[in-house]
Amino acid sequence: MAARSYWACVLCQRAVVARMMCRSMSAATHPQPQVDFLKGELHRKHQGVTNLKTLHLPGELYTAAQSIIYRAQITRLTDRAQSLTNFLWSRKRSIEDSTLRKKAVSLEKELWEEAMQKAGDVDEQALEDRIRKKVFSELKRTTYRWTPMKYDEELGVVYMAARLAGGYAAVKRALHEIKKRDPSFAPQTLLDFGSGLGTVAWASHSWWGDTLKEMVCVDSSAPMNILAERLLKGDDERAEPHIKHVYFRQFLPVSPKVQFDLVTAAFTLSELQNSKDREETVMTLWRKTSSYLVLVENGTKEGHQMLMEARDALLHVFRFREKIFLKLFSVMKVFVIYS
Ligand SMILES: C[S@@+](CC[C@H](N)C(=O)[O-])C[C@H]1O[C@@H](n2cnc3c(N)ncnc32)[C@H](O)[C@@H]1O
Repeated sequence: MAARSYWACVLCQRAVVARMMCRSMSAATHPQPQVDFLKGELHRKHQGVTNLKTLHLPGELYTAAQSIIYRAQITRLTDRAQSLTNFLWSRKRSIEDSTLRKKAVSLEKELWEEAMQKAGDVDEQALEDRIRKKVFSELKRTTYRWTPMKYDEELGVVYMAARLAGGYAAVKRALHEIKKRDPSFAPQTLLDFGSGLGTVAWASHSWWGDTLKEMVCVDSSAPMNILAERLLKGDDERAEPHIKHVYFRQFLPVSPKVQFDLVTAAFTLSELQNSKDREETVMTLWRKTSSYLVLVENGTKEGHQMLMEARDALLHVFRFREKIFLKLFSVMKVFVIYS
């Protein structure tokens, strides 16, 4: 297999603007030495600047989505789609147990010190109970509570109304980064983890068409798989799917030997409960990748940080375990992360 080397992290405009604002604010307070990152190049020619053309949903996908929305008759769909978008964009990662424990210990220490300063005759057991209760209620009040999403039939349609077009565009853009840099890459097999509406299958098909001979879509939600299949069939269960060779599963293929040319996870890492689950998932997907692993998340600070966690985990393995193997066989697997 030809050597492929490339990794890209492109941030959406919002993140860039936010970062530029932070940078200019900190530069104002702490003057920084000027570094010529552009090496004399014009800013608009810098390789990190990309032109975002307007993308359109494939006609068949658009028509099928409209039909499903019409038939679902969901009340206040527009409001619910807007609320879901807001929720997903402001969602944070759950706080890690170790961080929570540290926070509790430091709060408890502070409260004990406060109580000791007041001195006097105290019933130690009663004080301890009071402090413990206070710690518990403070943590409950100030800690972000991550809640898992249950994508049932109705939430699936709301998600589709809210995110189908945006999700499709983001994935298509991310895959374009591969297409642009590696035009000879022609994937035959695809594994999409957390496939939801099947946007990755549609976007991949738009770039590589019928070279794709097997697309395995894995989603733990059976209603989501049914919805994705309805989209493929133009909301007509007797019709042939618009894209062939798409297979829906609720679990990842068990055998570690099964690999796919292209492995993707779009907006799915944010659905996993903690950093351990995310890291394990990324490593499993990496083992299933024979050429490219593509991870896409929202262009928010949280989305960006989740991708950085994934990148660090992958680089760690790459540096310490896979380097020798890859060198021996002159194979290079690549990851593309996009927010
Ligand atoms: C936010 S949706 C993204 C869907 C799709 N990738 C897209 O871009 O439209 C996340 C999906 O991940 C699925 N999911 C969450 N946890 C999962 C898990 N452990 N295994 C497989 N799928 C999972 C959910 O059911 C949901 O359909």
